[in-house]
Formats: sequence, C-alpha cells, structure tokens
Amino acid sequence: MIMHYSVNTIPVGVLGASGYAGREICALVARHPRFSLAFATANEQRGQRVRIGGREITFAAPDDVSLADAAVVFSALPHGASLPWVERSAAAGARVVDLSSDLRPGHGGVASDELVAVPYGMPELGASTRAAIRAASIVANPGCYPTSILLALAPLQAAGLIPAGATIVANAASGVSGAGNSPKRELLFAEVADDYRAYGVGNTHRHLHEMRATLKTMGGDADLVFTPHLLPVARGILATITLPLVEPLDDPVGFFRHAYAGEPFVEIADEQPTLREVIHRNVVRVSAVMLGGTRQPTLLVTSAIDNLVKGAAGQAVQNANLMCGIDECAGLPA
Ligand SMILES: NC(=O)c1ccc[n+]([C@@H]2O[C@H](COP(=O)([O-])OP(=O)(O)OC[C@H]3O[C@@H](n4cnc5c(N)ncnc54)[C@H](OP(=O)(O)O)[C@@H]3O)[C@@H](O)[C@H]2O)c1
Repeated sequence: MIMHYSVNTIPVGVLGASGYAGREICALVARHPRFSLAFATANEQRGQRVRIGGREITFAAPDDVSLADAAVVFSALPHGASLPWVERSAAAGARVVDLSSDLRPGHGGVASDELVAVPYGMPELGASTRAAIRAASIVANPGCYPTSILLALAPLQAAGLIPAGATIVANAASGVSGAGNSPKRELLFAEVADDYRAYGVGNTHRHLHEMRATLKTMGGDADLVFTPHLLPVARGILATITLPLVEPLDDPVGFFRHAYAGEPFVEIADEQPTLREVIHRNVVRVSAVMLGGTRQPTLLVTSAIDNLVKGAAGQAVQNANLMCGIDECAGLPA
C-alpha cells in the first residue's frame, strides 16, 4: 500500500542519530521539502544538544521517544541492535528504513530462519525492485560497499554478460567514516593518516553475504572476491572491479549509459570517477573499460560513492521517498 498524506509534512524519527549515518540523515531531513524531524536518538550521547543542518537537535534515549510520533523511522543503529527497534517501530505503525545489515539479503551471514524477507532498498536494480520498495512497510537499506559494487555489476548480470562460474575481483577503498564514530585505536588519525592498507583479507567481509545473495537473485553464480581497503580520508568509496565477460563490449560506457538511462542518481562517466566528484551527493558515478592484454574478454568497472550519502543516508531517504509516494529525488543532493 502506498501512503498518501493530506498534510504537507511527514514526521520522521531517526534512531542512532548521533552516529555518522544518523547525523547525515538528520542533515538531509533538515533540507527535505516534506520531512520534519520528530525525534533523534542516541545511546552514550543521549541528552547532548547539537546543531545539524542548521537546526538544534537534542538526542533522546530510544526508550524516551514515542515511536508512534513518526510516520517514517530510519534505524541507523549497529547491526544486531537494530532489528528489535525496526520491529517496534513497525508495530507502532511507522514505515521503516533499516540501515543495518540485519534484514539485508544474506542477513550479514547471521541465521535467518525467523526473519521476514523485506525489499532490498536499491531502486536502480529495476522496476520490480522499485515497485516493491514503494509498497513496503520495511526496507533494508543496502550497505556502502555493496552499493558501490552491485550497481557496477547489476546491468552486466542482467544482460547475461557474466560467464557461469566466473571470478569477479572487487577491490574497494573506503574513507574512515565507514567504520562509525565509536572510538577505535586503529582508526586514530595518527594510525590512518599517510597510510593505506587492505583489511578483512581472505574474502571474509560481512558485506560479501549481501552481495552474493543479491547477485544470486539475479541469476548470478560467480565467485566474488572482495578486498576492502582503508583510505585515509573522512568519506567516500572507490571500487575497482575486474571480471571476465562472455563477449567483449565495443562500447562499455555506452552499455552502462543505456542500462541506467533515466536513473536520477547514476552517473556514467567517460573518465575514471573520483571521490571528489561524488562527495556529499546521492550518486554513484561509474565508468568501464575493456582491458588489453588478456586472453579472455575482461572488463574493468570503476565506481565511486559517498559512503554516508548514496551508501547510507541518501539512499535511505530515497527509499523513504518511494515508500511515502512522493518524488524519489525530494530533498536529495544529486
Ligand atoms: N558509516 C557508514 O558509512 C555506513 C554505511 C552504510 C550503512 N551503515 C550502517 O548504519 C548503521 C550506523 O552506522 P554508523 O557508521 O553511523 O555507526 P555509529 O557512528 O557507530 O553510530 C551508531 C549509532 O547507534 C547508537 N547506538 C549504538 N549502540 C546502541 C544501542 N545498543 N542502543 C541504541 N543505540 C545505540 C549510537 O549512539 P551513541 O553514539 O550515542 O552511543 C549511534 O547513534 C550501522 O548498522 C551501519 O552498518 C553505515
């Protein structure tokens, strides 16, 4: 069912508003033409008064807010902590966008027998995904790495261009905000500045479950080899993805332009995308080139996003717009 509001303003609540993703949602809500902030919660930072998006916000404890005051709840809580609040918010009558991995395809690798299946909030996967989001009461917002990698792979998978049993190698570097804002020694400025390294090596990252499960729903059976890297910048993800194709593409950039024609938040570039081009914007910027010097046709796809916007808060607002039956682009920096 699509919600339509007779009044102009749609009250929204943000759980985990003191975190990086939650603060970004509050900033987007402040500039949104239809949303107004009903509540913003924090855990250790509860009671703090901050200025976000030009507005004064006091973080409340989750137990002190009335979930029924919000028509839409964004849960930007850590995985594990999020699911009970998603269920409580839905029971209180709110539409819910869950930014954690709790309800995403693959469920972060956690046993999922009792979990309900909810739409995966990546509207660009196609018309049926967009329709499912519009009709949903709960949406699982994609992870940041999966957003950068799946949006680069989905049109190739949909076109049957990825050979059966292929190996896809995805290397992606993320800014430090990807790890959240709870203090960690290895993320201190002096530890990350002027350095660059891979982490989670050995194909073990949590996001692999989500990416594999999503590609599987599209008929993909490729092996995905994913190695994340820590980039000493605050925000942004750059993914470089190498994969074999069943046949060479004469015009890889043209292929992506055609596949994503009309998508407001996908930019296809002739040149290699950079982080500077996407920071603070709700876009994924993609380019592609056939590689020389390989025996089988091999494509390199490069994609860039702001992990806190298209990789988190912006995509969440995009999904909430769809769920509320309003303009998908409302309030979003394109
Ligand atoms: N950062 C990203 O780039 C990104 C991208 C996509 C998705 N996500 C997802 O978005 C969610 C938030 O990520 P984040 O990076 O914003 O994390 P974060 O900076 O660590 O923020 C976590 C938030 O949840 C609150 N919180 C922590 N434990 C809680 C509990 N037990 N009960 C109630 N509130 C609790 C924190 O409050 P206090 O700080 O006051 O303790 C804070 O507001 C995660 O599920 C993450 O996987 C993050």
